[in-house]
Amino acid sequence: MENGVLDKLQRPLRDLRLSVTDRCNFRCRYCMPEEIFGPNFPFLSPDKILSLNELVRLTRIFVSLGVRKIRITGGEPLLRKDLPELIYRLNMINGVEDIAITTNGSLLKKFAPELFNAGLKRVNVSLDSLDDARFLQLNGNRSRVKNVLEGIQAASNAGLKVKVNMVVQKGKNDQDIVPMARYFKENKHTIRFIEYMDVGNSNGWRMEEVITKQEILNRIGEVMPLEPIQPNYIGEVATRYRYLDDDQEIGIISSVTEPFCSACSRARVSAEGKLYTCLFASKGYDLSHFLRSEMSDEEIADTIKNIWNNRGDRYSDERGEGNISKNRPKIEMSHIGG
Ligand code: GTP
Ligand code: 5AD
Ligand code: SF4
Ligand code: SF4
Repeated sequence: MENGVLDKLQRPLRDLRLSVTDRCNFRCRYCMPEEIFGPNFPFLSPDKILSLNELVRLTRIFVSLGVRKIRITGGEPLLRKDLPELIYRLNMINGVEDIAITTNGSLLKKFAPELFNAGLKRVNVSLDSLDDARFLQLNGNRSRVKNVLEGIQAASNAGLKVKVNMVVQKGKNDQDIVPMARYFKENKHTIRFIEYMDVGNSNGWRMEEVITKQEILNRIGEVMPLEPIQPNYIGEVATRYRYLDDDQEIGIISSVTEPFCSACSRARVSAEGKLYTCLFASKGYDLSHFLRSEMSDEEIADTIKNIWNNRGDRYSDERGEGNISKNRPKIEMSHIGG
């Protein structure tokens, strides 16, 4: 096994975020708005999507370059029928230390036990409101709150560690910050509040819609006092806090007001096998082409190493410095799962 590769800013390649499908059963307005992702949207055809064997082979190659942490995303990853088998096989790879899934939770009730039995330890579940009317509005009328809460419960009952992700948007769900904090404090799951980001080209993001980390902390801290705690590891995306009256923790993901590019060790691969070196990248590198050629694992590893060596992405830092052109095209969130 190699010692790992560094990019132009000396950041190692440690995390791999694998999107396993570009489809989703939700139509969240900030990610896949119905007007754009309607019935005629050209989703990837099955032959374009990386197969189970290709995903396992590619992961093994990334692990040989230093990757230790795998996150499965989508679209909605639980739409993929062979997901438990994928988890099982990824778990077998020597060097993989952590596998997690990011999901909208709607199918967890059905699949949580199977995923746990396949070796999965944890899931991050997105939930933006506890109010049915607002939640339906946010997810394009696809799911009631109860469905996701039952999914979270099922995951927890099955033995999975659950974290909840709430993307906060001013005027849309910011009234839910404190109720969400209170609910998951009582239910003992870590909730992370995410500053709304300008991902993709279709969510019409405006800075005025962002509720900052500081404001989120103020609102929660006023009713349930908090103190900061140390990160679990260098480069952790969320900053962690703990309530003073119990040990329950929460997190804030502040990519807009406090970017964390300097420690970003994440590579992303889309369902069709394109490698993106940033969540906001304009272009990807087609790895499926290599996987479907005569190239050996070593040759593919060398190609990825070169791409990583030349990586200089720091989009969120640049946004903070005011250096981003408005017209710069970006990969859609549903393609690389955040
Ligand atoms: P843990 O391993 O549980 O800490 O998960 P995570 O927070 O890395 O992953 P998750 O998929 O739950 O992502 C939570 C939020 O963080 C989402 O809104 C992601 O888009 C955002 N996020 C994750 N990685 C990055 C990143 O590299 N850059 C930016 N800007 N946002 C990120
Ligand atoms: N800003 C912040 N987070 C987002 N997510 C999706 N779109 C955005 C956005 N514009 C979140 C999802 C999920 C995670 C993968 O990314 O809600 O929790
Ligand atoms: Fe689906 Fe997640 Fe995008 Fe919502 S944010 S449409 S659940 S992929
Ligand atoms: Fe990494 Fe790009 Fe996110 Fe910065 S904006 S943390 S470089 S993915």
